[in-house]
Amino acid sequence: MDLGRLKNKQQKETFLAPLVSLRQVKKVFPPVRGGNPVHALGPIDLDLRAGEFFAVVGPSGCGKSTLFELIAGLAPATEGTIAFEGKPIAGNVPDGIGVVFQEDSCLPWRTVRANIELGLRKSRLPAAERDAKVGKVLELMNLTEFASHYPAQLSGGMRQRVCIARTLVMEPRLILLDEPFAALDQQTRLLMGEEVLRLWRAIGATVFLITHALDEAAMLSDRIAVMSARPGHILEIVETGWPRERDSRILEDDRFGPTAAHLWRLLRNETLRAADAR
Ligand SMILES: Nc1ncnc2c1ncn2[C@@H]1O[C@H](COP(=O)(O)OP(=O)(O)OP(=O)(O)O)[C@@H](O)[C@H]1O
Ligand SMILES: [Mg+2]
Repeated sequence: MDLGRLKNKQQKETFLAPLVSLRQVKKVFPPVRGGNPVHALGPIDLDLRAGEFFAVVGPSGCGKSTLFELIAGLAPATEGTIAFEGKPIAGNVPDGIGVVFQEDSCLPWRTVRANIELGLRKSRLPAAERDAKVGKVLELMNLTEFASHYPAQLSGGMRQRVCIARTLVMEPRLILLDEPFAALDQQTRLLMGEEVLRLWRAIGATVFLITHALDEAAMLSDRIAVMSARPGHILEIVETGWPRERDSRILEDDRFGPTAAHLWRLLRNETLRAADAR
């Protein structure tokens, strides 16, 4: 898009404004049973750009899930501000944000279709519109054939697709995923990654993915934040420069190896530094 052609100043600002912005965000958990408070995160400054695929990697326990919960509005920050589309996030998951967790959270007593419909129940949409939305998402996630199956009749990868579909049906502008493929084998993970890339292109949402898999982060993302050991800070934001049209074959690209190696170097140095400091 040629910004010079956007005549209206306000329009220009809206386009350039970050979708999510964190300023000096810090999280300290109160002491558990007479112990010490845990400084889990920050202070962090971070802007997510509308439409990008953004990943976060970092050592275990560095505060990734904490960061995820803060952006999702599931927990309050101890200090600092977080805004989604210019409005402060406080209290609950804002409209426009969809959340996918690590664990398979399908309801076993509901069919695939009923699981996906769940979120729409509250929105007072006419039944026909609701069915149309669910139908579209079933198709997008290649689940149409399995609409009447129960979760126990699906593979782990398919169940995770149902969880993603359940979020997608709400048409979020920002999708937050916390290690969504962690329980899957490597091959399925790569293929699920491809599906998420396809969806990301199809729906034009912004994706924020937490993962411990460096190859996954390097393959999927436009930008990757590498976090320090706890309290988590952002050590570096790596830009991959991948084209929007991409899939797992990016693994064969000459630039893939150096990108993944750079992530590993940052993370390895950080883990060693943190171990020395103990
Ligand atoms: N509700 C809580 N109460 C107290 N401490 C917490 C709470 N949630 C997280 N923590 C602490 O905050 C720190 C960061 O935890 P967090 O779950 O964010 O790490 P993570 O980077 O997601 O780790 P992993 O890669 O293992 O998932 C840990 O030391 C953890 O013990
Ligand atoms: Mg976590």
